[in-house]
Amino acid sequence: MKMVKISVIALVMGLSFTSCNKDEEMATTPSLYDRLGGVSAISAVVDEFIGRVAANPDMVRTFQPLLTEVGEKGANSPRLISLRQNLIDQIGEASGGPQKYTGKSMVAAHTGMNITEVEFNSLAGNLSGALDKFSVPMTEKNELLTVIGSLKPSIVAK
Ligand code: HEM
Repeated sequence: MKMVKISVIALVMGLSFTSCNKDEEMATTPSLYDRLGGVSAISAVVDEFIGRVAANPDMVRTFQPLLTEVGEKGANSPRLISLRQNLIDQIGEASGGPQKYTGKSMVAAHTGMNITEVEFNSLAGNLSGALDKFSVPMTEKNELLTVIGSLKPSIVAK
């Protein structure tokens, strides 16, 4: 009987230590947003990403209307300003930041463009390159690319 009591106490203590450790871990691991460096770092990555997409021959087909407007209006193109802000908000929100994405759903934004898997991967490569440019560590880079990769079924045409 004594043995059983001791085992129960040990079990309860063990459980409470385990849950305590978990709570501590959760409280001390910063969000992906913070680990990336917050909105200023995300904005710099988005700017680099947009530059790479604009120079990517695989993107000419789909981005032609935007490229034409930027050709006419330059960096003041309302379409470019809105896309940039939407990307910052989307990445900020998805990584645990205070931003709220208010753009179209991924299905609505890309429907009718007949985006292929090759095009999707090419654009993801531009994001990966932008993250490398700012030496974002492997863990954070993979976490963000996984979040973005999960959007693939909503973007690539069936
Ligand atoms: C990697 C995942 C992608 C993300 C996170 C993403 C995100 C976005 C966002 C936030 C918008 C703006 C939506 C709005 O205006 O409300 C947008 C628009 C657009 N996306 Fe994507 N997108 C992705 C993949 C792609 C791919 C693979 C292509 C083409 C190959 C593409 C082509 C476009 C185009 C052409 C627009 C409209 C730009 C304009 O003319 O204003 N996107 N995307």
